[in-house]
Amino acid sequence: MKRLLFVFGTRPEAIKLAPVIDELRREPSLFDVRICTTGQHREMLDQVLQLFDLKPDVDLQLMKANQTLVDIAGNVILETGRVLREMQPDLVVVQGDTTTAVAAGMAAFYANIDTAHVEAGLRSGDDRAPWPEEVNRKMISVLARYHFAPTEDAKANLTREGTDPARVFVTGNTVIDALQRAVLRMSSDVVLKERLARDFSFLDAKRRMILVTGHRRESFGGPIRDVCEALAELTLDDDVEIVYPVHLNPNVQQPVRSILGGSDRIHLIEPVDYVSFIHLMMRSDFIVTDSGGVQEEAPYLGKAVLVTRGTTERPEGVRAGNVKIVGTGREDIVTEARLLLRDPAVRAEMSQQRNPYGDGQASRRIAEILRLSLGN
Ligand code: UD1
Ligand code: UDP
Repeated sequence: MKRLLFVFGTRPEAIKLAPVIDELRREPSLFDVRICTTGQHREMLDQVLQLFDLKPDVDLQLMKANQTLVDIAGNVILETGRVLREMQPDLVVVQGDTTTAVAAGMAAFYANIDTAHVEAGLRSGDDRAPWPEEVNRKMISVLARYHFAPTEDAKANLTREGTDPARVFVTGNTVIDALQRAVLRMSSDVVLKERLARDFSFLDAKRRMILVTGHRRESFGGPIRDVCEALAELTLDDDVEIVYPVHLNPNVQQPVRSILGGSDRIHLIEPVDYVSFIHLMMRSDFIVTDSGGVQEEAPYLGKAVLVTRGTTERPEGVRAGNVKIVGTGREDIVTEARLLLRDPAVRAEMSQQRNPYGDGQASRRIAEILRLSLGN
């Protein structure tokens, strides 16, 4: 029996690790799977834990309002280090590029415990964008022993940097596994369907709907304000409405609410649970976002995405044709969004259903590789 400790702290890590935990727990005689949440996020993490019925064995409750990167990194290393000493796992599993993930990987390394990295090898090529995530994931690649790359591109990034190819496994992205499970539940649960219809009954079927999210640290200040100005301009057309679940980070809340609050056709709402967000993605005409996960989910759902960033570590969606990098400039966003609103051929081409991030079997592959690698 091998003890695996999953350490995570934010919404996307929980969404993307939930199917892996579920898969490993199907083999209780082989794996003793434990969960440690750092609480880097609180409300936004709890929404996901509830949906996937995940109960942390340890909850470090570290979130502070307006926390700094040093607060998170320092506290996660110290507190996860303590948990590792008490729990003595055989393997620590982390996901993605958050500060929780790199700090937990560092704590494991210092405790001389192996780490597995889910969603390894993504690279934008710019250490400052996304910041700090690009460097976080590079550091995890140095610390980790098992690298689960979602795509061949991601594997190539790792081997180019000198990672032993025998320790890199192309699995697909586990976000597609999570998405498929949630969509299945949405299609079979009548009560849930009614709840979603009721919750979003404020939407006007006669209007086009743009779904928006944004939270990248390198956009705080001027760029976030420019994106908001562009969104305000788009709703000058009265057949357009926007739904914007606003990230709880005060650096996002403040500018978004001050620039866009009070407009009739801009619905600023709290972050929604994962099934509600999937419902909104499906219901939208297209999406404007700087989110990594949304860039991966949208092609699977057959949605077009305008990415309000200068670069991406997820080029597969761009190559597939669903995703366009538009930056944070007001005019560029308005021009590209109007193209999608007004040209049906462009919208149709960007809204085809495609699967550049996997087939929904990534978690099963990860479980199988761990079973073989850990010698069970
Ligand atoms: C973090 C990750 C980012 C990931 C994002 C997903 C880092 C450095 N950043 O960014 O990679 O893409 O999560 O959303 O790891 N807050 C709440 N409640 C919550 C969550 C956040 O109030 O449930 C507020 C708090 O004031 C907190 C602030 O948001 O201090 C920032 O949270 P933090 O985790 O530091 O950064 P994110 O921008 O969420
Ligand atoms: N998401 C959600 N509720 C929301 C907004 C997003 O459940 O209100 C989901 C989304 O479907 C995706 C994930 O959260 O799976 C992305 O999280 P985020 O954009 O915060 O982080 P990133 O992916 O950029 O790291």
